[in-house]
Amino acid sequence: FDPRNYDDILDIYEAIKVQLPDEFKSVTIGIICGSGLGTMATLLKDTFVLPYSKIPGFPIPSVQGHKGNLVFGYLHEMKVVCQQGRFHPYEHEMNLALCSTPVRIFHLLGVSTMIVSNAAGGINTTSKFGDLMIIKDHIFLPGLSGFSPLVGISDDRFGVRFVSVHDCYDRTLRRMAATVADKQGVPYTEGIYVMSGGPQYESPAEVRLFKTVGADALGMSTCHEVTVARQLGIRVFGFSLITNMLVIIFNYLLILVNSVHSHNMLNKFANLDADTSVVVSHEEVLQTADEAGERATNFIGEVLLNISKM
Ligand code: 6GU
Repeated sequence: FDPRNYDDILDIYEAIKVQLPDEFKSVTIGIICGSGLGTMATLLKDTFVLPYSKIPGFPIPSVQGHKGNLVFGYLHEMKVVCQQGRFHPYEHEMNLALCSTPVRIFHLLGVSTMIVSNAAGGINTTSKFGDLMIIKDHIFLPGLSGFSPLVGISDDRFGVRFVSVHDCYDRTLRRMAATVADKQGVPYTEGIYVMSGGPQYESPAEVRLFKTVGADALGMSTCHEVTVARQLGIRVFGFSLITNMLVIIFNYLLILVNSVHSHNMLNKFANLDADTSVVVSHEEVLQTADEAGERATNFIGEVLLNISKM
């Protein structure tokens, strides 16, 4: 199937729809679970689980920490579909349209609001690992360099050719979510998410590059899905779970132990200097996501409660 072809997407949608109980043939909320955040699906009641293996054309996620299901269910009387296991461009030859197919399926199912989440590296020294970051805006590096999910055939049925991305992350939802985080005592910041192609993590010099341009968190997902959602007119709320600011604590100890005196201590603290930087590992990312995942799940549960009252 060609993920840029609307009729091919329709075929997949039909193949999904015939397998769904009548009650879930139409849903209003779509959730994309980030690494280690698959537990968000446990918020749903009276679920129906459709494994990707039963959906023609859907890839099977290869990344540890990602399941492969569309989970349908109820939350605060709303019908919800949850993508449990996302598709990263680095797993799929940088085919961003393929990786964003679930969002187009969301649209055909009737989704009007999408919640997107990810595990990300924090480069803002005010946030700590385990904190949440409400995404205010993004830097879509693959999209800027020709790897946009919108490249290729233009079909009006997807939306306009030249999509405006000046307001990707709905302001009303961001304000509301900040209120929820305050009320729950969940540490959070609001900031700019950078999507790199991955799968390698960034070098200290690359982290410094992104920090210089005002970025707050680094990941390998989300922007392609959000871009496709905005073309379709879907309202978006996004957040990052900051999984590996541990580097700062390790660096701090390294500095003390080695009595390194830097002209620019901030660089040392934020893994921005190759002499004091430490390894970032997927295990560490998953461990933090697991530990803080429940907090993120409670947070999003209350965000959705408020959406149900809007
Ligand atoms: Cl440090 N970088 C990227 N690109 N993605 C991540 C990450 C870092 N930590 C978690 N996901």
